Amino acid sequence: MSDDKKRIQELRGKIRRHNHAYYVEDNPEISDYEYDKLMQELIDLEEKHPELVTPDSPTQRVGGKPLDKFEKVDHDTPMLSLGNVFSEEEIRDFAGKIKKMGYNPKFVTEYKIDGLSVSLVYEDGYLSRAATRGDGETGEDITANVKGIYTLPLSIPYKEHLEVRGEIFMSKASFRKLNEQRLEKGEEAFKNPRNAAAGSVRQLDPEVVRKRNLDIFIYFLMDRDMVDTHYESLEKVKEWGFPVNEDIRLCGNVDEVIEFVREATTKRPDLPYEIDGVVIKVNTFDLYEKIGYTAKYPKWATAYKFPAEEVVTILKDIRFQIGRTGVVKPVAELEPITVAGTTVSRATLHNEDYCKKKDIHVGDYVVIRKAGDVIPEVIKTLPEKRPDDAQPFEMIDECPSCGTGLVRKEGEADYYCPNPDCESRKIEGLIHFVSRDAYNIDGLGERIITEFYNDGVLKRIPDIFRLGDHVSKLVEKEGFGAKSIENLLSAIEDSKDRELDKLIFGLGIRHVGSKVAKILANEFKTIDNLMDADKEELTSIDTIGEKIADSIIAYFNDDGHVAMIDELKELGLNMKQKTHIQKSGAFEGKTVVITGSLPSYTRKEAKALVEQQGGNVTSSVSKNTDFLIVGENPGSKLDKAKSLDIPIKDEEAFKTMIKEES
Ligand code: IVH
Repeated sequence: MSDDKKRIQELRGKIRRHNHAYYVEDNPEISDYEYDKLMQELIDLEEKHPELVTPDSPTQRVGGKPLDKFEKVDHDTPMLSLGNVFSEEEIRDFAGKIKKMGYNPKFVTEYKIDGLSVSLVYEDGYLSRAATRGDGETGEDITANVKGIYTLPLSIPYKEHLEVRGEIFMSKASFRKLNEQRLEKGEEAFKNPRNAAAGSVRQLDPEVVRKRNLDIFIYFLMDRDMVDTHYESLEKVKEWGFPVNEDIRLCGNVDEVIEFVREATTKRPDLPYEIDGVVIKVNTFDLYEKIGYTAKYPKWATAYKFPAEEVVTILKDIRFQIGRTGVVKPVAELEPITVAGTTVSRATLHNEDYCKKKDIHVGDYVVIRKAGDVIPEVIKTLPEKRPDDAQPFEMIDECPSCGTGLVRKEGEADYYCPNPDCESRKIEGLIHFVSRDAYNIDGLGERIITEFYNDGVLKRIPDIFRLGDHVSKLVEKEGFGAKSIENLLSAIEDSKDRELDKLIFGLGIRHVGSKVAKILANEFKTIDNLMDADKEELTSIDTIGEKIADSIIAYFNDDGHVAMIDELKELGLNMKQKTHIQKSGAFEGKTVVITGSLPSYTRKEAKALVEQQGGNVTSSVSKNTDFLIVGENPGSKLDKAKSLDIPIKDEEAFKTMIKEES
């Protein structure tokens, strides 16, 4: 071995040790100056011998080039979130439901770390991709940023394709330090460690992120062939060098779960990082599929949330806010106050009935509650402290934006502005269209949309796709440089390919939320079919009742809406649901696992094909697996499938199955 090669290895070992001492043990052994010297020597040697650079060299954590934007990436398996429980009684209910299904599992309890979730993929033992959760199906590639988290290994001893998931967070100490520095520089302080962590991860310059001192805990192994239980999987990932939280417990029954929750409540203030609850997971993997999922969450896990913080402040005024569907919501303007780590100056008052029932007066002392991301709400007023000049709540009868008379339908709690041309409604409609669960266009936020609307370049949804015609006007905008315009226009162009359900949801049809939009897209396949559907056809679908059906029909009976859809078609927007689940496909109702690389398909393509034909692709082999599709260099999944007698299909057999269907 050459001297340089030897020295490179020696330096890497030393630097890794010092990184560990500094970031993990919080006990640096050498000065920054000495550390920088070692690092510089390694950088110089690697520059001299680029062939010796490895993806896990400590140099790969530093000096990442700033990005123009984050690339979107599809998750192999959707990143689900969890249902919530708020009391010991609800924890017992959660366990009780599982017991009713005939299971009596052990549970693993873990802190619910207050940060942001991340998916990490390792190939050949090296970190190959880190992605944010995004909407659960598509996230953003933040690999370069994640390399700057020193507690995360860049390489692991396990050499097969591997995905783990975890939470990126900022410790309370780093958060305090960062805010001190920001205030010194005249920058705005972050509101809480979670915002600081999320804001940091969204930085385009990895060098900025690296200096933010983020941390991570891994809480989930996605490839589960080598272990049978969640607890063992966490031990496994710990063995491979991943940071796993220390306070994780295997509980034999629900009483032990509750004991852990009580302990967590006591320990919470003294922990070096923020937690907002306890996550409770069934231990045995085999039970995951058996216990199953609701539309949104697994039923084998839940999150206990600590009680929301409540504070008292003064309700100074009541404003009325108009939503995209015209719904008018009373909003309390408050004397600003800090609650659950953020300053709150507004809180929802829900609707007229709520305000009357709670006897809300302008001028009252009110109790405000806020839990995590939840919109703060006024939960009660303190009449004993009411000043003499307090004014009782009064509902308005005209739209504050356009003056049209407000309407309240029978059986509904909300008033709404029936004027489709109401400016506030239109702006809210545009904001909704580009929002994350709809067309998800980066760079078009609330402020920009309002400005573009007032400038006249963005009045209706189709105008979004014509923004390219107004570049000179956009350039005049403060804070809108050539680069951000280029990014915006390319985000808009990319969005044209979104699935039909995103379009349907984005249109903002009353009562059509993202779940209903998915059902409609799957059922009707194209926008034209949906537009032609009559009430009978609509209500024959599960979960589509009369109220939704009437609303859809009314929407498409409006010539303006039909004309708008035509324009969107001409502008090149996708109008079809591409990954539709066919009835009676070759994989109908089957659970399929794919392993190894298939010569003719990417993993994503193979997965889409299985799904199109009614199958479900999961990441690990179990007794519930119906087929294993095997490509080149299969891993331990093949052995496991063989031991369980699961039918195995090579690529040729897979192709035949697909062809027979199409
Ligand atoms: S497990 C399907 N474990 O809480 C299970 N999540 O509401 C997925 N989180 O999106 C999550 N600590 O961002 C899990 N120990 C933990 C967690 C945890 C924090 C976050 C995570 C997730 C959200 C669920």
